[in-house]
Amino acid sequence: MSDRIHSLGGYIHEYQKSVQDPETFWASIADSFHWQKKWDKLVEWNFDEPKVEWFKNAKLNITENVLDRHLYTRGDQAAIIWEPNDPNEEHITLTYKELHAKVCQFANAMKAKGIKKGDRVIIYIPMVPEAAIAMLACARIGAVHSVVFAGFSASALADRINDCEAKMVLTSDGNFRGAKQIPVKAVVDEAVENTPSIETVITLKRTGQEVTMKEGRDIWWHDAIDGVSTENKAEAMDAEDMLFILYTSGSTGKPKGVVHTCGGYMVYTYYSFKNVFQYNQGDVYWCTADVGWITGHSYIVYGPLLAGATSIMFEGVPTFPDAGRFWQVCDKHQVNQFYTAPTAIRALQAFGTEPIEPYKLDSLKVLGSVGEPINEEAWHWYHDHVGKGRCPIVDTWWQTETGGILISPLAGVTPTKPAYATLPLPGIQPVILDNEGNELKGNSVEGNLCIKFPWPSMLRTTYGDHERCRQTYFSSFAGHYFTGDGVKRDEDGYYRILGRVDDVINVSGHRMGTAEVENAINEHPMVVESAVVGYPHDIKGQGIYAYVICDMEGRSEESLQNEIKQTVTKIIGPIAKPDKLQIVPGLPKTRSGKIMRRILRKIASGDASNLGDISTLLNPEVVEAIKEGAQ
Ligand code: WTA
Repeated sequence: MSDRIHSLGGYIHEYQKSVQDPETFWASIADSFHWQKKWDKLVEWNFDEPKVEWFKNAKLNITENVLDRHLYTRGDQAAIIWEPNDPNEEHITLTYKELHAKVCQFANAMKAKGIKKGDRVIIYIPMVPEAAIAMLACARIGAVHSVVFAGFSASALADRINDCEAKMVLTSDGNFRGAKQIPVKAVVDEAVENTPSIETVITLKRTGQEVTMKEGRDIWWHDAIDGVSTENKAEAMDAEDMLFILYTSGSTGKPKGVVHTCGGYMVYTYYSFKNVFQYNQGDVYWCTADVGWITGHSYIVYGPLLAGATSIMFEGVPTFPDAGRFWQVCDKHQVNQFYTAPTAIRALQAFGTEPIEPYKLDSLKVLGSVGEPINEEAWHWYHDHVGKGRCPIVDTWWQTETGGILISPLAGVTPTKPAYATLPLPGIQPVILDNEGNELKGNSVEGNLCIKFPWPSMLRTTYGDHERCRQTYFSSFAGHYFTGDGVKRDEDGYYRILGRVDDVINVSGHRMGTAEVENAINEHPMVVESAVVGYPHDIKGQGIYAYVICDMEGRSEESLQNEIKQTVTKIIGPIAKPDKLQIVPGLPKTRSGKIMRRILRKIASGDASNLGDISTLLNPEVVEAIKEGAQ
């Protein structure tokens, strides 16, 4: 198809076309899809409300493009190759034909349980093929899926279920992860005690561990599909109907449900996948993300399958049974494009090159990075030892809200530069604004990263609270989408992401709101107040540092610290557990009562020199005490 760019000149040409005449540009890409009815208007938008509509009044079903249209051309080709946690267990290959049948069958099973277009369905399933089948089955019947990362706690899961008033939860009995076997259904049981909207829970048997099944509510996956037809007529969806909700953290305490719609998300994930990874028919592509995050949605499931790719789904972890597992899988399945997170690269780098040596890695053509800034050292290690100096690294910058990759090299087509996401994809118009909202033009500038023109896969709203969407993304800089990231454009015009400029931290590529972690800490009965900041962490990128004021009542610091950490694990999940927790006599505050996080961040980063003028604080004396007790 003509929608793949092959040269730097081609990129420049396409980019210019996309800015000068976005409608013609996107129409030519969208034309290659199967639409039940074409659009009346390509795009209509204003960033004030905000209101963004792509492919207005078009009708489609994304699964007809993910599945049906491949049946004649590549029905027997592998769509998903699933590699289990245990290398001694057989992998599973699902061809496009098989995946189509399974999706249709499960879609029928959900329908039989009363799910219809527009209903919300929670998917709390670990990395097994049924997670992808469940997503696509929802899309098939027009139900809105919301995948919740299977590491979130019962209370975090319940909050998400209640926010979107889901009718059904799809889950598994348990999960194999490294040497561990983790209960999953038990977490759902606890969550659904407090979720009045849930009518049905469907549970996949994966580990075989014991679970309790509640009469009238719970049903096994294999029973739900027993004897059910594998044919299903796809629901006609409006291009702007909701495809899914994905909850993500922001600077307030409550995660928000980012809403993506059918038409635009389809066109952009396909286009970005093909161009960034330069996927060729027959290649084997592997993204190691979890389906619980946006990367798993866009670049394990939708983007690759829309492009007719073979996409690997991996149940395990990079260090089990040893630190060579990724490389063993690359050789085993002859992976051509490999896409992972800097935190995984840094964790593996710590083992040295020995675990890589037994493997050839000669099938690799492209390496990708996502989720957080990749430091130069990790970039070079990845490039030299994994890619053997042969494979371009695509450092892909994007967000849950952007739906797809916005700034990234196109592998082998546009230049790379260590630690730089480099250039915007065609159709993407980034601008750098100073804090007053003035555009910083030209090169060698640094400021707030904003986007000034819509792209097809951008978020449309935050579920149930449009005002929150406006406030969070469209009010800081009038007429612009604000990403929350700081950025530099260097002397050559390449973009380097500098990290968040808001109260969001990025721990091992997972977004955490500091307020969200504080809320969880404050649930502990002895906590009076807390403040959470990020600090530089060698492997995780950022670690979580919590300063906590406690009512000690004769308790030991250590036991309280542990209890508070456990409280966070219970309320959010292990990913939010503070790495460091310091009990402090007070928090530095301005006279108006605002916590001076700048000071806390400096102390957490181990640099307590030069804290600036602290004499204007309400309580300058606590700064000394915090410095003394710092970890
Ligand atoms: C950060 C993940 C630097 C950034 C797809 C963004 C990155 C947040 C990169 C979104 C990158 C993502 N370089 N930083 N290549 N990719 N980020 O929503 O701060 O989980 O705002 O989406 O991750 O995280 P999210």
